[in-house]
Amino acid sequence: MCGISCYIGGEDAAPIVLRGLRNLEYRGYDSYGIAVKLSDKIEVKKSVGRISDSSLQLPKSNIAISHTRWATHGGVTEANAHPHLSCDEKLALVHNGIIENYTELKKELQAKGHKFRSETDTETAVHLIEEGVKGGKPLMEAVMEACRQIVGTFAFSVISVDEEKMVVARRGSPIAIGIGSKGDFFVGSDVTAFLHHTKKSVFLDDDQLAMIEKGEGIKYFDIKTGKEVEKKITEIEWDPAEAQKQGHKHFMLKEIMEQPIAIQKAIQGRIKDGLPCLEEIDSLEEFLKNTKRIVIVACGTALYAGWTSEYFLENALRLPVEIEYASEYRYRNPVVDDSVLTIAVSQSGETADTLAALRESKKRGSKVLAICNVMGSTIARESDAVIYNRAGPEIGVASTKAFTTQVSILLLVGLHIGLLQKKIDEAKVKEITSALQQLPEQVKEALAEKESIQEIAKKYYEKKNALFLGRGQNFPIALEGALKLKEISYLHAEGYAAAEMKHGPIALVDEETPSVFVVPKDRSYDKTLGNVEEIKARKGNVIAVSNKGASEIARIADDVIYIPTVREELIPIVAVVPLQLLAYYIADLRNCDIDKPRNLAKSVTVE
Ligand code: G6P
Repeated sequence: MCGISCYIGGEDAAPIVLRGLRNLEYRGYDSYGIAVKLSDKIEVKKSVGRISDSSLQLPKSNIAISHTRWATHGGVTEANAHPHLSCDEKLALVHNGIIENYTELKKELQAKGHKFRSETDTETAVHLIEEGVKGGKPLMEAVMEACRQIVGTFAFSVISVDEEKMVVARRGSPIAIGIGSKGDFFVGSDVTAFLHHTKKSVFLDDDQLAMIEKGEGIKYFDIKTGKEVEKKITEIEWDPAEAQKQGHKHFMLKEIMEQPIAIQKAIQGRIKDGLPCLEEIDSLEEFLKNTKRIVIVACGTALYAGWTSEYFLENALRLPVEIEYASEYRYRNPVVDDSVLTIAVSQSGETADTLAALRESKKRGSKVLAICNVMGSTIARESDAVIYNRAGPEIGVASTKAFTTQVSILLLVGLHIGLLQKKIDEAKVKEITSALQQLPEQVKEALAEKESIQEIAKKYYEKKNALFLGRGQNFPIALEGALKLKEISYLHAEGYAAAEMKHGPIALVDEETPSVFVVPKDRSYDKTLGNVEEIKARKGNVIAVSNKGASEIARIADDVIYIPTVREELIPIVAVVPLQLLAYYIADLRNCDIDKPRNLAKSVTVE
């Protein structure tokens, strides 16, 4: 949440940070602002709404900080947009996170004469740093001291008119530093802010601070002890071109369409001689042989990926698998110990609730495996082992390729544990991995239905409500389909277990409320057909996702979207594709801002 993009070096800073900011807009897009350091003053420009090139004209400078906001404290106004200035306007600061003790700090600072210009918690920090600077401290020490007084989470970047420096600090909110080739440095909430300039990145840990001095380089410090620390440079594997729309109308459509290649990359080198080869989890081998239970923690689409995989994992491993909303889990005194494997699933690797859930599990002795897409992210770093999706940057706020790669990887993880625990024989594993290797082609076939899905979208886009229904492993796919539609088209959509629908949602059914059934030819096909009939008997329209040759559903449903026939374990991965496309085309017909839906942010780094 909130995006930070900064630069210090020999180039004109404003255009660099603005480009970075545009790349980060998926983190928040209520308002934005930029501050440049000039020789005698700091110039700040802010604006409410989306980032557009022309609106902010700034003078040349080698040092700039900028921010795109997702409002927490204080409405969406120019005054509340970052950067915030100190009273004497000599300091400017951008912030991602929440300062929990800002009310007390603000009172103390006001008593000392500080005048506040915004309603934000953030502004407290810049006044607090100003107190230190007024007391004679250099910028770095003043920032360090302020960080010690702050309760809550922060990623800060701070500049001063009096120093050729930028100070960056972190506790609980992500921040990455890009190491340029010309002695210049970039700062971003995530690496997409600067990937087009450098792939070399340093990730600050909690309670660490970086002091970057123009022409001198960078030093890292521990905020608590004040001592200098060493940091490792990570080489990011993503190609910056992947973060462009590449001719597609929206990032979301591009990301839906590139799922075959994303899945291909996710499984590449991870199957050898038909068996899963997950070197990333070798260190957990002894633990995985004996683990007694699996708990999956996640939020949003990642949660539904975990939920989908629960069916396969439980069936293959004969172990209890629980899927937990990360936000609930952490406050529930969960029954977890050192016999439990916790799997944290997160595209961004920064979701605050998922991170807190994994910490809760670790505290209780559980080993944590992360499935993350973003390299070097906090969840990836704090877990005992991490498997990266390798899906490339996902920019559209509604998650698509992350989902299908998460489910593919969880399948391999399940097979790996199954072999270690001798719960599944090699022959069966080989059958499944061979099917998985064909999956990219089959996802392509599912995508080839896009024109017919577009036609179906034209029939239904003006409706107000929709139900999404499925049984077994198709139930979480129904949940995901409903989530996609809600997120980007703002239509009310409810995902439900198809048979459970009789206990409530069926009351919603009439000519105006279509039901989308995920009803492939699997073990629950016949039962689900009964549920379809129940909807039809109440004059509800039915859109079915099923296989060619499924004549019964073709006869009853108003519209059928065809998916290729795949092994049962893989059905969810092909079945979700038409639901992504359906949501996309409906939202497009409704002229919605698909890549940046209202009120949402791609990376939710606050609780
Ligand atoms: C936000 C995004 C969702 C995403 C969820 C979890 O709500 O809008 O698309 O599924 O966070 O994000 P994560 O990065 O942990 O997968």
